[in-house]
Amino acid sequence: MINDLDLSNWKELDILTDDLWLFASRDKTGKHKNVYHGNFIPQIPYQLISRFTKAGEVVLDAFCGSGTTLYECEKLGRKFIGLDLNPQILDFVSSQMQKSKSDFYRLNSCDNTDENSRILN
Ligand SMILES: C[S@@+](CC[C@H](N)C(=O)[O-])C[C@H]1O[C@@H](n2cnc3c(N)ncnc32)[C@H](O)[C@@H]1O
Repeated sequence: MINDLDLSNWKELDILTDDLWLFASRDKTGKHKNVYHGNFIPQIPYQLISRFTKAGEVVLDAFCGSGTTLYECEKLGRKFIGLDLNPQILDFVSSQMQKSKSDFYRLNSCDNTDENSRILN
């Protein structure tokens, strides 16, 4: 199995099975502030993380921006590595995580197109 979903009960799951995902509104709960240009709605990483990972596994977002994927990982009990070119937005994400008990995440400012860029400190 690639996830923790109980597929014997798939119709009751919080997983969209249509080919078109429709969300009535953006999830703005918790740490999701919708303050960063181009951030995606939290329900997208929620669906993908739930389908393709299990609790405790590591999710990498190489363009993590304002941390939408990280906050969903925290909610779902996944570890997280976030990379981004923009150190200011990573400072914002770090400040959001000050209120978190989770230490299951790493953030690093780097240019993903630069093969000499360090991945993690
Ligand atoms: C559309 S935003 C991602 C938004 C994120 N999914 C969210 O929900 O907040 C794209 C991000 O990619 C980063 N980025 C662009 N080019 C990059 C590169 N070469 N290396 C690392 N990050 C890069 C930008 O700084 C920006 O934060």
